[in-house]
Amino acid sequence: MSIALDVPAGSGLKTIRGDGTNLVTQALRFRTHESRLREYARLRETYGDLSLINNLGLTTVVAQGPDAAEQILVNRDRAFANAPAWGYYIGPFFERGVMLMDFDEHHAHRRVMQSAFGRQELEGYLTRMIPTVQQRLRRWSSGPSFRMQDNLKELTLDIALDVFVGVHLTDSEAARLNKAFIAAVRAGASIIRKPVPGLGWDRGLRARKVLEEFFHTHIDHKRNAGGDDLFANLCRARDEDGNSFTDDDVVNHMIFVLMAAHDTSTITMATMAYYLARHPEWQQRLRDEANSLDEVTSLSDLDALPALDRCMKEALRLHAPVPLLPRQAVKDTVLLGHHIPAGTHLVVPLYANHYDPKIWPDPHRFDPDRFSDERREDKAHRLAWEPFGGGVHKCIGLYFGGMEVKATFHQLLRSFSWSVPDNYRWPLDLTAMPVVKDGLPVHLERIALPAADMPRGPFTGGN
Ligand code: HEM
Repeated sequence: MSIALDVPAGSGLKTIRGDGTNLVTQALRFRTHESRLREYARLRETYGDLSLINNLGLTTVVAQGPDAAEQILVNRDRAFANAPAWGYYIGPFFERGVMLMDFDEHHAHRRVMQSAFGRQELEGYLTRMIPTVQQRLRRWSSGPSFRMQDNLKELTLDIALDVFVGVHLTDSEAARLNKAFIAAVRAGASIIRKPVPGLGWDRGLRARKVLEEFFHTHIDHKRNAGGDDLFANLCRARDEDGNSFTDDDVVNHMIFVLMAAHDTSTITMATMAYYLARHPEWQQRLRDEANSLDEVTSLSDLDALPALDRCMKEALRLHAPVPLLPRQAVKDTVLLGHHIPAGTHLVVPLYANHYDPKIWPDPHRFDPDRFSDERREDKAHRLAWEPFGGGVHKCIGLYFGGMEVKATFHQLLRSFSWSVPDNYRWPLDLTAMPVVKDGLPVHLERIALPAADMPRGPFTGGN
């Protein structure tokens, strides 16, 4: 049975159609990397750039291609909102995070936040980050099945906690927090969207409480002691009328940003590690480049690693950590000549757009040089390469994320080599963000010890 959106009579606008597949069939079609890409391609071929699907129980417009992405994300006529859209998936777990705000309120909060991501602040974060990376990598040891993804996740959590929270945690506290993040992020993709004890949604709600309690426990200390981490900056923030964030505001922003920074960077690094394991010639090329730079002491040092930059971009293309961006129309509007009634749910599927054969020749191939100055395939359209989104909600942390990935790989490549058996293919779980189900076991070999790290106190960041 086919489905279609209503169009006002005589408007001359086109309608959007889909095949009305039930929730279970739809979920199965989107389950694996290959089947998902096949399904997106089928929808586009059958219905065009805009088609209708059943997404976790919501009839949703899939808006494929860079033109649709640009209009929705730039959102010139303020027709598309984040809060009701992201809210449906992750609202109860990440409520009042900046990504879940809209229009004037979003703008005001974003401006406050942006001051924490200026060049000077980034330089400061980099200085704090390097010893954390060195310290973690010194604890890694050679072995035949080192779980690369899981270890990278611990590393990015260390970085996020140090640079944003400025709190040193014991291993068990860090593990508890890590578990809470995973539960909160995963809960959004639950099929049963009610708090049934033992199921994902309920675990997510309990995880949210753990995170709130964690930040509330530390907020008084932060407000009194200050510091140069994001937590301290949010505590100090004032609007034009001199109003400050309440404790709840600070806690909500912290929970969201820590989540936004953590899994996304981990997925990017895990993807790079996987492709570099399968392409030893690229791994060696990046290692040679890394060895030509002894130390990273400032952001501009990272410019000396262009091949690493291309590899990161290719990883973000092949497996966008945020696979789709949801929006809801808050008024009737027109998208690529089609009528979109108020209340319509839409998604911009970054994941599929990055395999658009009209933009990316041989899209399944790992080919970082497609981002080289000579080729620049991403220049085909302003939103051809969009792992950080675009427009008003474009990722605030994109420079931070790039810096974190490159600073880590600079050390990693100099300290270790890694490989996987020829026939190994990573088992991806695409329920929420793409994660490797088996933790990405690699054969890890130490080449050299990272430079000696600086001892850190229990509270860092000017406390
Ligand atoms: C490689 C890593 C990352 C990727 C792929 C990524 C991706 C994204 C995407 C696609 C969005 C847009 C969501 C939308 O339009 O609905 C976004 C927003 C956001 N990201 Fe990132 N992100 C990354 C790292 C980070 C880091 C490290 C931070 C913080 C340090 C961060 C903080 C944020 C925030 C605060 C927003 C919301 C912005 C707004 O709504 O105005 N992200 N990110």
